[in-house]
Order: sequence, then C-alpha cells, then structure tokens
Amino acid sequence: MALRLLVNTGLLAIPIGGSVGTLLGIDAHRSATGQPPLFTSDGNSNTGSGSGGDSTGGGSGGSGSTTNNGVTNTQYCQSSYGISPPSDGQLYTLNPNQWGVTDTTSGALCMNVTTYNNETYATKQTAPGFSVTWQFDPGPSTQPVHAFPNIMVDNVLPIELDKMTKVDLDLHWTYGIGNTVASSTVESTLTADNLQTNVAIDMFFDSDKTNAGNSTLAKYEVMVWFADFGSAAQPIGLSAGAVTTKTLNGTTFSLYTGTNSAKQNVLSWVATETTEEFTGDIYPLITDLYTLTGDIYPSNSDYMGIFQFGTEAFSSDKNVTFSVPKLSIDIQK
Ligand SMILES: *[C@@H]1O[C@H](CO)[C@@H](O)[C@H](O)[C@H]1NC(C)=O
Ligand SMILES: *[C@@H]1O[C@H](CO)[C@@H](O)[C@H](O)[C@H]1NC(C)=O
Ligand SMILES: *[C@@H]1O[C@H](CO)[C@@H](O)[C@H](O)[C@H]1NC(C)=O
Ligand SMILES: *[C@@H]1O[C@H](CO)[C@@H](O)[C@H](O)[C@H]1NC(C)=O
Ligand SMILES: *[C@@H]1O[C@H](CO)[C@@H](O)[C@H](O)[C@H]1NC(C)=O
Repeated sequence: MALRLLVNTGLLAIPIGGSVGTLLGIDAHRSATGQPPLFTSDGNSNTGSGSGGDSTGGGSGGSGSTTNNGVTNTQYCQSSYGISPPSDGQLYTLNPNQWGVTDTTSGALCMNVTTYNNETYATKQTAPGFSVTWQFDPGPSTQPVHAFPNIMVDNVLPIELDKMTKVDLDLHWTYGIGNTVASSTVESTLTADNLQTNVAIDMFFDSDKTNAGNSTLAKYEVMVWFADFGSAAQPIGLSAGAVTTKTLNGTTFSLYTGTNSAKQNVLSWVATETTEEFTGDIYPLITDLYTLTGDIYPSNSDYMGIFQFGTEAFSSDKNVTFSVPKLSIDIQK
C-alpha cells in the first residue's frame, strides 16, 4: 500500500484559462453536481488568482471563501476545526489547532486552505494547499505554545512500524514576515522580528493501536524538526546534548530525548540548520530508534497512530505567514 499526500499552494497562480479540456472537465463536473457553470461570458470568471471571480461566502465552516476558475480559497480562523476537503480518497485533515489560546491570549491565527471545486486533484491523494498567518504575544512560561496548525495524514494509520518500508517525504515550506506568502525564508528578518516557532513533523507511537492514535495517551512522540526560530521553541532534552545524529540526503538531524509533563517520551530529530526543502526517505529516523538502548525508545512492533506536519506557534512581534508550496508524504508498506 502506498499513501501519497501532495500539497501544492502554487496552484492558485497557475493560469487555468488555456486548456479547453480542463475547462470542459470542470464545467461537466459542476453541471453534474448542479452547480452553475464557471465559464460564462460575464467576464467575471477568468482571473488567475486574487480578487474577482464569484464569491461563495463562508462555506464549510470557513470565515470566507473566494472561488476563481474552480479553485477555492477558504480562510479558517477558528481555534480548532477539522478541515477535510472532499476529494477522491480523503487522506488528510487540516486544523488551525489553537490549543494554547485562552481568553487572555493576545494575537490571532488564520489558516487558508486552497481546494479544487471539482474535487479531482493531480493524483488521487493530492491534498489542498495551505498557509497560516499568525501573531501572538509571548504566553506564560507554563504555556508558551499557542497553536500547532497542521496537516494530518488520515485513513491509513495506525500502521505497525515494522510493516512500513519507506516514509518518502518531498517538502518545501517558507516562513516570512507579513500577511502574504514568502517565496523563500530569510532567517535574518524572522530573527529581527523575534519569531519564536519551529517547523516540524509530529508523530505518535504506542504498542497499543488505539493509544497510538491519541496524542495524549501515546507513549512516544517522535518529531522531525526542519527549523527552529528563536529560543522559546526548543526540543525537549536540548541541554543534555544530542544522543546521536543521522544524515539523510545531505541534511543532518540530531536526536534529543526527554519526557514531557504528560510523561510521554519525546524523541526529537532536529535538523542542524534551517532546512526549507527536503527530499528523501525519513524512515531511518524511526528505525534508528530501535537500535538505541532504553525504555524511552519505541520498538519495531509499536504502531504509528498520528502523522502531522505543521508549525508550533509560540510568539512573534509581527504577523508571519507560513506556507507549504510542496508536500508529498508517501508511507509505503
Ligand atoms: C480540477 O480542477 C483543477 C483546478 O481548476 C484543474 O487543474 C484540474 O484539471 C481539474 N480536474 C479535472 C479532472 O477536471
Ligand atoms: C495580521 O495583521 C493585520 C493588520 O495588518 C490584522 O488585521 C490581522 O488580523 C493580523 N492577523 C492575522 C492572523 O491575519
Ligand atoms: C487568506 O485568505 C484571506 C481571505 O480570503 C486573504 O485575505 C488573505 O490574503 C489570504 N492569505 C494568504 C497568505 O494567502
Ligand atoms: C484521548 O484520550 C483521552 C484520555 O482517555 C480522552 O479524554 C480523549 O478524548 C482521547 N482523544 C481522542 C481523540 O480520542
Ligand atoms: C536528494 O535531494 C535532491 C534534492 O535536493 C533530490 O533531487 C533527490 O531526489 C534526493 N534523493 C533521494 C534519494 O531522495
């Protein structure tokens, strides 16, 4: 079995007007589902992105959405909301996941999700693109994290660790100051505006299938950090030093270990420098854990119950925008 999760936030920028076949395809689908045709001669439906087109108002729980040529951008500012856009073989859920936000929190976070109205993506399991704009003042030291906006792999988990053969990842993300998507990450500007966050995969393992799918009950939390901005976002066990390292396709990850307040074993592989793009199989970051001695490490018969990719929002002086122009996760059995 193969799971492929593709995200492409560049899609909005692709001019769609060129191909008659594509236009017919979208309109045929819309017609079949009782929607009005997109491509009428009102001169209002052929813009690539941005303003114009038909506004469909707040659909599916979002606070506002705009549709152009069958591509819909919906904004979700709710603290927690499972966004599972309809698609052929739904395999992902997006969530703003503002779990650390309270009445006294100063700041806000919104997640934008880009979907195709025809529900047909480039490949069967393609996920919508997304970006997250946020700003929070520093929280109390007891609860410094405000949110973990993320995309989560659905349907195929739990999987026994030993039953997997590969976890191929093809990733490009960016972080920038302001309310728009940055084409690349300029670390000095992020530091100047005091951004405190990370960019990471968050996985949960347990010997019990059900517990593996519960981030509170799972015995192991295994993370892969691609970036770490500011000193607030620190892997548990950083001060004790790295236990070991692993280099995958040119990127070196250091392993830090410890336990959190929920007594879960937290094992964090942290890229030694900011890694905006990564292509490779990260399964060795899981299998290497079995070779280490101690009760804090999982074994090959444990299950992976949760696989998420996102950013832990601590604080920032200004609005920042995280975007994921490319994400493909291919878990192979
Ligand atoms: C679905 O919509 C997207 C975006 O408009 C388009 O690129 C794609 O070709 C469409 N697929 C089909 C099968 O019509
Ligand atoms: C970002 O900044 C604008 C003002 O420029 C503000 O209206 C908005 O609410 C801020 N936060 C988010 C999450 O977009
Ligand atoms: C998110 O969506 C809102 C509402 O459509 C829009 O104003 C904003 O520019 C979008 N942000 C990004 C980063 O695309
Ligand atoms: C996880 O387990 C806790 C404690 O038993 C329970 O309260 C919570 O509802 C569970 N969460 C999910 C998503 O099942
Ligand atoms: C290693 O990374 C490069 C891009 O930096 C990519 O083209 C190549 O396919 C990757 N190799 C593997 C084995 O994934």
